[in-house]
Amino acid sequence: MEKMIIEGGYRLVGQVPVSGAKNAALPLFAASLLVERWNTLQNVPALTDIRTIARLLRQMGVKIEGESGTVRVNAAGVHSCEAPYKLVKTMRASVLVLGPLVAKWKRARVSLPGGCAIGARPINLHLKGLEALGATVELKHGYVEARADRLKGAKIYFDISTVTGTENIMMAAALAEGRTVLENAASEPEVVELANFLNKMGAKIQGAGSDVIIIDGVKELKPVEHIIMGDRIEAGTLMVAAGMTQGNVKLLNCNLSQMEAVVAKLREAGLEIYPEGDGVKVIGPANIKAVDVKTLPYPGFPTDMQAQIMALMCLASGLAVITETVFENRFMHVSEMRRMGADIRVEGSNAIVRGLPSLTGAPVMATDLRASASLVLAGLAAEGTTEISRIYHLDRGYEKLDEKLCKLGAKISRVKE
Ligand code: EPU
Repeated sequence: MEKMIIEGGYRLVGQVPVSGAKNAALPLFAASLLVERWNTLQNVPALTDIRTIARLLRQMGVKIEGESGTVRVNAAGVHSCEAPYKLVKTMRASVLVLGPLVAKWKRARVSLPGGCAIGARPINLHLKGLEALGATVELKHGYVEARADRLKGAKIYFDISTVTGTENIMMAAALAEGRTVLENAASEPEVVELANFLNKMGAKIQGAGSDVIIIDGVKELKPVEHIIMGDRIEAGTLMVAAGMTQGNVKLLNCNLSQMEAVVAKLREAGLEIYPEGDGVKVIGPANIKAVDVKTLPYPGFPTDMQAQIMALMCLASGLAVITETVFENRFMHVSEMRRMGADIRVEGSNAIVRGLPSLTGAPVMATDLRASASLVLAGLAAEGTTEISRIYHLDRGYEKLDEKLCKLGAKISRVKE
């Protein structure tokens, strides 16, 4: 295991590219199970989660060429429809294979993910959706076993807006017989990316990006080439990094139209953010203002940016209330930030942050992906040295974040624990 050592207090200056989006890439890999020829994915980020989904697909018999950048995927040789516990427990997004397996390969045996650091995260709505499409779904020995000869279109209402649930059912419905209508569907840009990808493959999907998605099933899909969108959460994280270091940073491959809630809050906090040439300029203020934030499904403020904006608020003048409404246990970073001197009180789903002039470097532990990013941010701005252990969490979803930050002037190294 590695730990990350950050010497705080350096201003970030320069330009940096935003990598391909993890949460867009993962469903596209799963969607490649829907076609028996070579799909080509470009701008695939080098991440542990991408290696995990590739491993999962390979053990089903899918051929994969490349690891990141340009990756080719061909599902012609599928011989197993199983997602084993040992992979699903390391990455919940493995459940994304469920819909495409049943739709294309008529069956799936996928381990139930079990507990998670940020919340219970059940997959009941994925299963309810598949059943509505006519699959038989049973839970046996910790696995979901689903079967169907051919799925049939249906009207499905999601009780809660679920990103991967919407994606799973959208993939399944793409090959179903007749029309499927998804109501209260998730409208995240990654859902739209998947719908665009499937439509390029010949699917008939309308309405992605709104809360009603209509899918007219087709018999067959064809292979395509696709460039994966930039990662809006990585972009937001880099914006906060600039904001916390009085930085002057230009982000390349950054789509502001997918980040309106985040940009609005960061501007309210005093950051200057504006398009400049081929990128987006971010300038950190001398004084950060306290802002209240409530996480919500898109287009609301993303839960995946909650820990990072909390790091920013630790240095704001005033009191900020951060409310987490999407996951029930996503404040694990709070006790680590407190070790760096932060003044944060948690009351139920609210974190009340009283900003301070500075944080102090300390040994801290990463608990999940976005929590680790927030500790990196806190470390960049803290006085002295911060040591973050269990940094493997960061590598699941950020491509070379430390290298990118070092190019901007940060002092970060890694050592074996
Ligand atoms: N939920 C249910 N039943 C379900 C599905 C979801 O009760 O069947 C609940 C969840 O427990 C949660 C809420 O619905 O309280 C929303 O969860 P959602 O299903 O939308 O989350 P997800 O699809 O499992 C994706 C991202 C997460 C991101 C969330 C919310 C991927 C691969 N993962 O997860 O990303 O936090 O949407 O936007 O797309 C991350 O990248 O760090 C990450 C955790």
